[in-house]
Amino acid sequence: MSARASRGDEANAGGDEAKADAAGPERARVPLSVVIETERLVLRPYRPSDVRPLRAFAIENEEHLRPWSPRPRVPSAARSIVEIAKRVAAQRKLWREDRGYAFAVTLRVPDVRPGAGPIVGRVALNEVVRGAFQNAYLGYLIGRAWEGRGLAREAVAAAVDFGLGRAGLHRLQAAIMPHNGRSLALIRALGLREEGLARGYLRIDGAWRDHVIFAVTREDWRARAADP
Ligand SMILES: CC(C)(COP(=O)(O)OP(=O)(O)OC[C@H]1O[C@@H](n2cnc3c(N)ncnc32)[C@H](O)[C@@H]1OP(=O)(O)O)[C@@H](O)C(=O)NCCC(=O)NCCS
Repeated sequence: MSARASRGDEANAGGDEAKADAAGPERARVPLSVVIETERLVLRPYRPSDVRPLRAFAIENEEHLRPWSPRPRVPSAARSIVEIAKRVAAQRKLWREDRGYAFAVTLRVPDVRPGAGPIVGRVALNEVVRGAFQNAYLGYLIGRAWEGRGLAREAVAAAVDFGLGRAGLHRLQAAIMPHNGRSLALIRALGLREEGLARGYLRIDGAWRDHVIFAVTREDWRARAADP
């Protein structure tokens, strides 16, 4: 399920790409033109033109996502065009500053430009820390209509490849509530290591919730690729 980056590589042909050496980069420079293609999906950064489709996605998936999401400070924010546009702009800024890499997960559609297909989910590497940590936190979701097809797994695998490869990170962590069976199955299928239970770790759907912590290092991921 390895992903291949397309346009971004060309944009990066000058050698800007973060070198995934042992210590990790001081800062990675990944252009916002990056496009990652997998068997069935295309992952790419959010664009200003995504605002309306993102609003439709948020409305359609409100019930599906509520139990697994932080509550917005302003309840209407999830549906507000202005707020969604602000979030897209903020995510692009974080990307440029090497602080977070949020991908729209789009479907590959024949004869449609890669990345221009419908948005079916999201996968993000949040809160990038460089220095001695070289770590980010994984977040992901798939629209209710697209669950149960292995698409989320395909997207998360591509994001892990990207994070531990091109973005030069050393470790990715995921935190999952013990009753989120689908998410636990996905992360276990990808072979992330279970590290323990963190009490009251995140405030989700209005309460502080325990989470099971999983992580993968670059060494783990490479070993798994060599011997799946
Ligand atoms: C967590 C979440 C992303 C998992 O999505 P998912 O579609 O269940 O996950 P996967 O992509 O791994 O798909 C696995 C399912 O696809 C099936 N499948 C079909 N074709 C497949 C293929 N080619 N490869 C792998 N699995 C395939 C598997 O058998 C499995 O089916 P099952 O659910 O009946 O057991 C999704 O439930 C979600 O968005 N939840 C709400 C948000 C959330 O909880 N995010 C995570 C917070 S930690």
